Amino acid sequence: MSHTSSQYELGEILLSAEEIAEVVGRLGREICADYERKQPVLVNLLKGGVVFLADLMRQMTIPHHIDFLNVSSYGNNTSSSGVVRIVQDLSSNIEGRHVLVVEDVIDSGRTLTYIFNMLRLRSPKSLEVCALLRKPPALKSGISMKYVGKDIPSVFVVGYGLDYQENFRNLPYIAKLLHYKNL
Ligand code: IMP
Ligand code: MG
Repeated sequence: MSHTSSQYELGEILLSAEEIAEVVGRLGREICADYERKQPVLVNLLKGGVVFLADLMRQMTIPHHIDFLNVSSYGNNTSSSGVVRIVQDLSSNIEGRHVLVVEDVIDSGRTLTYIFNMLRLRSPKSLEVCALLRKPPALKSGISMKYVGKDIPSVFVVGYGLDYQENFRNLPYIAKLLHYKNL
């Protein structure tokens, strides 16, 4: 079944629901092995990362907490500027905690760099990232990404939490966005 609307058209599926489940299961096992007895805080970036977090935490068999950070990027529609505004801050104190940022996709790495710098000032015991998707520019960003679900090409994708102008977050799979019409 193809999902189309008058404005947008979806292309090739990059990750099916089955592939996502496999990737999330693997990440969950890796994280559990590394964070046993550390009671990490999974810091989720709203809103794109929320579907990923919900599945990832249910793959985790170790005690952990979750918290949310809502940042809005001053970018155009399909790329970020890296200058972000905190819309909603964490509800907990992360000082001395093992923090794992759970992010949907890392493209230029600018958003993550900004967030890492901000969180580091709060003296967490450790700070790492778990990203479901990574695009090629992220490799040049200089951030070490401990957990990555899948490397994808530099294309704009939607579904499984990822949006284009707030649309498509509900798709159970991740697909290319083919056309940006009527912009
Ligand atoms: P970066 O700052 O360039 O690494 O961009 C990361 C942020 O831009 C992510 O948190 C997403 O919100 C958004 N983003 C980047 N690529 C995509 C995409 O293909 N689809 C949807 N959102 C994206
Ligand atoms: Mg995001």
